[in-house]
Amino acid sequence: MSRPIGIFDSGLGGLTVVRAIRRRLPAESIVYFGDTARVPYGIKSGQTIARFAAEDCDFLCRFDPKLIVVACNTASAAAIPTLRERFPQPITGVIEPGARVAVRQCGGRPIGVIGTEATISSGAYRRAIQRDMPGAWLVEKACPLLVPLVEEGRPPRDRIVRAALQEYLGPLREAGVGSIVLGCTHYPLLKEEIAEVVGPDVTLVDSAEAVAAEVALLLEAERLLAAAGTGTMRFFVSDNPDRFRKVGCRFLGEEIGAVTLVPPEEFFPGSAVTPNRAQEAP
Ligand code: DGL
Repeated sequence: MSRPIGIFDSGLGGLTVVRAIRRRLPAESIVYFGDTARVPYGIKSGQTIARFAAEDCDFLCRFDPKLIVVACNTASAAAIPTLRERFPQPITGVIEPGARVAVRQCGGRPIGVIGTEATISSGAYRRAIQRDMPGAWLVEKACPLLVPLVEEGRPPRDRIVRAALQEYLGPLREAGVGSIVLGCTHYPLLKEEIAEVVGPDVTLVDSAEAVAAEVALLLEAERLLAAAGTGTMRFFVSDNPDRFRKVGCRFLGEEIGAVTLVPPEEFFPGSAVTPNRAQEAP
């Protein structure tokens, strides 16, 4: 059997990335870890997020992944360089692929970036965009209310969601942005509402789609693509598997089968589990 792709996120938001990868690469098997015991990462310090991200990777390494996808914008912003130093597998985050598409699609106008507080204050998108387009004019905005609103599953055309978006996106609209990076796993679920607020001439960059395209290119270049067929999906969380299953299906776009709880004594530091050992949680 071909080795799986390991994907992690602070919780269930990374399922939008799983969905995009499944659509593009249905033969790939996926092992997903959601750190639901410690979510949200978006309000934590860069140092703490980087430590959590390394522990999440350690867990995934038990499954001998051929590639690790950091399906969390906040963890990608804080931890990619240290993860690449520490782990031997190729590691793909969501920042660089999203930044590249935003530059291509801005039409010479300013570029908007929205994300969690930690993602925006890290400046990771700014650096990635200005590497591709020196002198790019960016308008960045942290939107902390959006993650809980999406998880709560507010109905379409909800007035609270609309009010939050109008407040957050006002400065981007005023600056006349040409593209906006949806720099958080949860925002693709608000794509239609965001489009209504900013208008049809602004391109919304879904970082989940951008990372799926990058993963396909990378696996092909490394000759690591799975043979034809349908890959399996396995889900692990550090807390509350029932909520993950119930809320997560909206993010994944399909029902979620078994979700395995990784007990804290197994996952958190000080446990007797040796990282990199290929073993499945019970
Ligand atoms: N997954 C996070 C992100 O993409 C959002 C949730 C959190 O704050 O942990 O930034």
